[in-house]
Amino acid sequence: MDIYDEVMELAKRRGFLWPSFEIYGGTAGFYDYGPLGARLKRNIEDLWRKFYVVGEGFYEIETPVIGLEEIFRASGHLSSFTDPIVECESCKEFFRADHVEDRCPVCGGEFGEVSEFHLMFRCFIGPGSKRAGYLRPETAQGMFIDFPRLLRFFREKLPFGVVQVGKAFRNEISPRQGLIRLREFTQAEAEIFIDPHDKSHPRFDEVKDEVLILFPQDADEASRWKLADAVEQGIIANEFLAYHIYLTYRFLIGVGISEDRLRFRQHEADEMAHYAADCWDAEILLDRLGWIEMVGIADRTDYDLKAHEEVSKADLGVFMPYREPKVIERMAIKPNMQLLGPRFKGSAKRIADALSQIDAGSLGDQEITIELDGEAVTLTRDMFEITRVKEEIRGEKINLHVIEPSYGLDRIFYAVMEGAFFEEEVEGERRVVMRFLPNLAPIQVCVLPLLGARDELLKISRKIHDDLRKRGLIAEHDESGTIGRRYRRQDEIGTPFCVTVDYETLEDNTVTVRFRDTMEQLRVRIDELHAWLISELGI
Ligand code: ATP
Ligand code: GLY
Repeated sequence: MDIYDEVMELAKRRGFLWPSFEIYGGTAGFYDYGPLGARLKRNIEDLWRKFYVVGEGFYEIETPVIGLEEIFRASGHLSSFTDPIVECESCKEFFRADHVEDRCPVCGGEFGEVSEFHLMFRCFIGPGSKRAGYLRPETAQGMFIDFPRLLRFFREKLPFGVVQVGKAFRNEISPRQGLIRLREFTQAEAEIFIDPHDKSHPRFDEVKDEVLILFPQDADEASRWKLADAVEQGIIANEFLAYHIYLTYRFLIGVGISEDRLRFRQHEADEMAHYAADCWDAEILLDRLGWIEMVGIADRTDYDLKAHEEVSKADLGVFMPYREPKVIERMAIKPNMQLLGPRFKGSAKRIADALSQIDAGSLGDQEITIELDGEAVTLTRDMFEITRVKEEIRGEKINLHVIEPSYGLDRIFYAVMEGAFFEEEVEGERRVVMRFLPNLAPIQVCVLPLLGARDELLKISRKIHDDLRKRGLIAEHDESGTIGRRYRRQDEIGTPFCVTVDYETLEDNTVTVRFRDTMEQLRVRIDELHAWLISELGI
């Protein structure tokens, strides 16, 4: 068994992860999070919110997982969200054509022709099949199509950020890598709407001297780069993107990923998504699977807002005032009211207004025909003059650009599990420890009465356990088995602290606190235990 197998075995046995639909034989690409897994995942999500919602001041929204067909026609997913597929002619297995060599890895058979396979799950909304919908392949689109309301919510103050944490669905061709390639997975995405003319970041100064491992598009290998240099030399497209690459780094370190297993790889030009001007993947080195993308951080430009504006016809623009109004000269039409008045009487004013709207730049020496109340009205050349006028322009309507960090939380969950997995030999026995950071551990503390304890000890330990739970900690109480076995059980699920109630407790109201990683022990007073735990857990 390599580490991947060890981690997945432990995850199944201890209630972190179970293959979905197991009693019906299961199917690839779906996993259930068991009681401990669901908690660990929630803790990772909550830490993510601490970074993006609390730290950056972005707001979280929640939009449907089903989207109308029009959304994905506009976004480009309907036409281009496909992977190349091949079928083995002998065993009939399907594979992603870009993930296999020229023979079937299962039976050695030959492949047929490569074709394109669409990755979105299609469904129908309501009875019949008139209204097609799709399960969203990314949470992002829900945030783009809410743009007009978001703009008003943020009172047009730029930049502003919106996040969504939720399920995304992709009908992956051949998911064989556990949580890394699922057909239903959780994304945490932020869409930050920015002024396309100013991609500086207000807090870039705070991070500009930080050094990250970058693997730029045309480099042969990854190397260390100071962020300011990477931006200055055009390696990272702009400060805003660089700031978010750094924030991603902080988050991944914050869930316990070790620095030497983390790098940022820039997409090759032919790998870049259809919407991106620059894109970097945060990749983590996994034991069996190698470097795996965990987060994509992209400059999506105005691609999505423009695309939705075109298809929906809604106004997704923003009026951006110039710093200084611009004065321009243009050719304008000046109506000759002395002729228009008597000729058109009550309609003369409306005709004059319509005339002044016409771009005179392209007009020659001809008549103009306009439409008034459904009728064509021809205006001869003596009824207007073309003159050169100066005009002050205060701004223009544009589509904002979007910077997007897109996290796959299931992949990060697996990386956290693998990174935390640790084994050693203690007194001739194997000890397996999940070294989760204390603030992420699914169980924060376990209270244990000494084995064969008199009722008095049990009463105290149950009271401590109750008390800790009432005060908001996730605490377990374990009364069965030898104390050593009980410690090992907690080590294996990553509980950072065990609290043992023993005979000394009866004498001095203290308990033994045992540290998971070092197995060191310390005595803490019961009335100080809660505060001590809160401070050690860093919550
Ligand atoms: P890959 O190239 O590995 O298929 P991707 O480039 O398609 O990934 P993105 O479209 O950038 O991935 O999606 C954003 C994030 O969502 C990824 O960084 C990844 O963490 C996660 N993700 C994408 N597809 C899956 C999947 N099938 N299962 C689990 N997570 C996924
Ligand atoms: N939102 C980026 C992606 O899922 O592709």
